[in-house]
Amino acid sequence: MDIVVVGAGSLGSLVGGLLAREHDVTLVGREPHVGTVTESGLSVVGTEEFRVYPNAQTTVSQGADLALVTVKAYDTAALAADLADCTFDACLSLQNGMGNESQLAAELDCPVLAGTCSYGARLREPGTVAFTGRGEVVLGDRDGGRSTVADEVGAAFRAAGIETTVATDMPTRLWEKLAVNAGINAVTALARVENGALADSPADAIAADAARETAAVAREQDVNLSDERAVSLVERVVDDTAANHSSMLQDVSAGRRTEIDAINGYVADTATKPVPVNETLAALVRTWERHREQ
Ligand code: PAF
Repeated sequence: MDIVVVGAGSLGSLVGGLLAREHDVTLVGREPHVGTVTESGLSVVGTEEFRVYPNAQTTVSQGADLALVTVKAYDTAALAADLADCTFDACLSLQNGMGNESQLAAELDCPVLAGTCSYGARLREPGTVAFTGRGEVVLGDRDGGRSTVADEVGAAFRAAGIETTVATDMPTRLWEKLAVNAGINAVTALARVENGALADSPADAIAADAARETAAVAREQDVNLSDERAVSLVERVVDDTAANHSSMLQDVSAGRRTEIDAINGYVADTATKPVPVNETLAALVRTWERHREQ
């Protein structure tokens, strides 16, 4: 399969690297990462170690069988407009936050699949991505239900050795992922700790409350997500990814804008009743973002 991975950050580079073992992959990202990959290939180190030689470039210039979108949520709208001129057979969003798929579907003339990914990754230096933990990709039709395109993309991921489930309940899966991100990302970023530090910590109740509030908002949207399931998913991900730095901690450590608007901010903006923990986390991270700009 011919795959363009748009967003060669930590996750895009790892998943793109894994896919490049089996498929023709083009990584689209920023310099100096892209230049180093072009010159010397992409090194994956950690859980599995290998080097692959995908194409690497700074803009999307061609169509492909699959556009795999891994850019930050705040870049999705602009990217969707750029991708509209290219021809893809399918598009898969493996991004944090809600609303990415509908922004892509508004511009692209192909089926847009939704996905979640719990593989752990961190860009170590240009050309090198650390594989910090095996996880799972779950993908499927963004509105739920069976999809032949999702089956084909799932088979292509499995052929590359990526643990993949094709799901028929993506709307619920996306809210579950949002509950996990709402519980973990801002708390680990503000406390500057790896995910595992949340277990039995003074902040674990904050993470659990943020997840419960997210579940309540999901139920307002007719998605069946109980408080108990949301909290247990947070606990499981904290355990499974104990050594990981969450993507928001990576952003804050690098002085970058975060995905707060698409995570706790989205929960706060969508809720029809007060969600004080998500509102507080969003306000704190947004305050940090403003301060960083000065
Ligand atoms: O954003 C992240 O870091 C990840 O989605 C997760 C699952 C919280 C693990 O770090």
